[in-house]
Amino acid sequence: MNLSVFPTARDAAAALADHIAGALRTKPDLVLGLPTGRTPVQLYRELAALTERHAVDFSRTTTFNLDEFLGLRPDDPASYRRYMERHLFRKINIDRERIHVLDGSAPDPEAECARYERAIREAGGVDLQILGIGSNGHIGFNEPGDSLMARTHRVTLRPETRRANAALFGGDAGRVPGEALSMGMATILQARSIVLLATGVEKAASVERMIHGPITTRLPASFLQLHADTLVVLDEGAARKLERRTENEERRR
Ligand code: PGA
Repeated sequence: MNLSVFPTARDAAAALADHIAGALRTKPDLVLGLPTGRTPVQLYRELAALTERHAVDFSRTTTFNLDEFLGLRPDDPASYRRYMERHLFRKINIDRERIHVLDGSAPDPEAECARYERAIREAGGVDLQILGIGSNGHIGFNEPGDSLMARTHRVTLRPETRRANAALFGGDAGRVPGEALSMGMATILQARSIVLLATGVEKAASVERMIHGPITTRLPASFLQLHADTLVVLDEGAARKLERRTENEERRR
């Protein structure tokens, strides 16, 4: 894994936005995998700012989001689809036809997962997958447990994950759906390149285990150690449990 540590969350997000803009200059029809949650809000702000300055062009980009709550319609104010509209899609020059988000209200969730896998394949696979990490070490909604699923699937959310998403539901974790649809571990690991963004001290322990710990289903992010092209972008808080290093130092592991 490659590692980049920045003084602040904002610096980390700005650097990742530049990385994405650069990838789009090299390959305008990039297939981009996108996360939701609190962490990428600043990243999406930076991408919107780059769009305003005409420093990035999404017109030929295809996107696939990682996950969605089960039982929510795409236009539900708490859906990840609406989150993406609010924070990114409305603010960039993306072709709506090239946006892909799992439909949490699909009558047959398993068929929806199979459709999503097919759509990713037909797009030629994900070129650049952006990830967050849960404080429990999940990526997408692949939760820690005895086993992990390879492909896009239906998943039961853990209590800490429902708590982490409470803000979307008026602060009430009880209103967060108990299930979701998520890209699987193989879907994620087959991306040609991966960047994981983590900010804040509450991520420091899972980041340390992801990088230095054993590969285990108890910490799904640890499987990124198997990927040949993964960059981990951190602020000082998320890097706190790693050995001391200077600002913006990049090193190859
Ligand atoms: P967060 O979520 O950015 O809201 O902490 C990260 C994740 O669960 O991937």
